[in-house]
Amino acid sequence: MADQAQVKDVNDVKNPKPVAPSPRRPVRVIAVASGKGGVGKTNVSVNLAAALAVEGRKVLLMDADLGLANVDILLGLHPRYDLRHVISGERTLAEIVIDGPLGIHIIPASSGVARMTELSSAEHAGLIRAFSDLDIPVDVLIVDTGAGIADSVLSFARAAQEVVVVVCDEPSSITDAYALIKVLSRDHGVTRIHILANMVRDSAQGEKLFAKIARVAEQFLDVNLQYFGAVPHDDFLRKAVQRQAAVVEAYPRSKSALAMKTLAKRVDKWSAPIAASGRLEFFVERLIEQESTFEAHQ
Ligand SMILES: Nc1ncnc2c1ncn2[C@@H]1O[C@H](COP(=O)(O)OP(=O)(O)OP(=O)(O)O)[C@@H](O)[C@H]1O
Ligand SMILES: [Mg+2]
Repeated sequence: MADQAQVKDVNDVKNPKPVAPSPRRPVRVIAVASGKGGVGKTNVSVNLAAALAVEGRKVLLMDADLGLANVDILLGLHPRYDLRHVISGERTLAEIVIDGPLGIHIIPASSGVARMTELSSAEHAGLIRAFSDLDIPVDVLIVDTGAGIADSVLSFARAAQEVVVVVCDEPSSITDAYALIKVLSRDHGVTRIHILANMVRDSAQGEKLFAKIARVAEQFLDVNLQYFGAVPHDDFLRKAVQRQAAVVEAYPRSKSALAMKTLAKRVDKWSAPIAASGRLEFFVERLIEQESTFEAHQ
């Protein structure tokens, strides 16, 4: 692991002071999306969750890639029940929550169940509403969505306060990310989006990639794009995937783990979520708010 020790974080933190955890804060809800598949959403979700947990945050990680779930596979978990059982009414949301590494709570989903990809808007809304009955202490809810612009992705993204779009430096990833940003901002009232450049060579490549997307988005869309940062291409991340572990835990000094930790610190610096309590009502309120705005425009 000697090569890990000399690694410089691509995000090159100028102020690495840790942010002190506060005892009781409103829940921050972050949806992780992309246009194109396979760009690293699940790895970003899992490792951001892990890095936030290392900082002392109470993290709930939801696998919202409803038909092709794989948070459990990435972490080597074997859930008995998942969101399919919540939809069928066999289990409550609280009953399917399992414990992952570093004290992260996980809401697993199913893989290879076509019905889960065909849920109605009412069923998506029902799932999101189920969060208000979830009585576990949470500082951050991370929602790993599926690729593309399926209804489920749009529902979860507009119910979250923060949307992170993961993009790689290749034409199809950039085009598809732009298409997602366009649909989110134009049709779903999501006006603040964070861009994460994954699998970059260095920080300059990440910044350039962001500038490319921001230039076009600012010209044609009414959206505020913010640069979240970059995660370098890293063989240690692949090794961690093979070991079914978060790279932040398996190889904490690798360059991708360092980058994820920097991103977790940036999350703490985002403006505070607005909500009355440290429960998940905000997630639900946002959904209801967005639903009425959405209906008003129909
Ligand atoms: N920073 C990285 N460095 C090296 N490999 C990476 C990195 N990020 C992701 N990968 C590789 O890409 C693969 C796909 O990542 P992941 O499953 O997180 O993508 P995804 O966007 O969630 O895919 P899907 O759209 O299928 O849900 C991983 O198994 C891993 O091998
Ligand atoms: Mg995924």
